[in-house]
Amino acid sequence: MPEITLSLPTAVASHALGHHLAALVTAGDVLTLSGPMGAGKTTLAQGLIAGLTGQTDASSPTYTLVHRYGHANGPIWHFDLYRLNHPEEALEAGLEDALSGGTDDGGLVLIEWPERAGDLIPEDSIAITLSAPTDTPRHVHINAPAHWIDSLKTWTAPA
Ligand SMILES: Nc1ncnc2c1ncn2[C@@H]1O[C@H](COP(=O)(O)OP(=O)(O)OP(=O)(O)O)[C@@H](O)[C@H]1O
Ligand SMILES: [Mg+2]
Repeated sequence: MPEITLSLPTAVASHALGHHLAALVTAGDVLTLSGPMGAGKTTLAQGLIAGLTGQTDASSPTYTLVHRYGHANGPIWHFDLYRLNHPEEALEAGLEDALSGGTDDGGLVLIEWPERAGDLIPEDSIAITLSAPTDTPRHVHINAPAHWIDSLKTWTAPA
């Protein structure tokens, strides 16, 4: 898949990038959000959820493993799999339903700490990898369809 690396100097930039991605996602997309603790995965997800739903207070699903938001184009599932002990626990949390569309048509699946779910994560997922908080400047590496990369080439982080 095509790829791009972007600079993310501030938390506002992580949120704004997520907001920009809201115009690119389509029902059925699976986005993995990787990177170490505190990298900005939830911040980016919050920007994306705000861009799609207008909801500005999406919280991290740290303890519940998943939050689900209603949307006209199908639900948005936001997983944080950090606390999983075994990949199978992701199924109990509803990952299989989310990935199969469950009883809904399509939908969007955002997954923080995807490596915790092992090979349950589809290979053709859009991969978003954020650098460590200690990196200066912080950056993000994105593997996504060509039209995403074209759109992102002209994206610049807010000053
Ligand atoms: N690009 C950035 N530059 C500086 N600070 C950032 C950036 N992105 C996010 N932050 C800040 O870093 C902190 C951690 O962000 P966030 O909770 O989104 O990380 P996370 O990757 O989801 O962490 P976790 O691994 O615990 O889920 C927050 O205070 C957030 O505002
Ligand atoms: Mg998080």
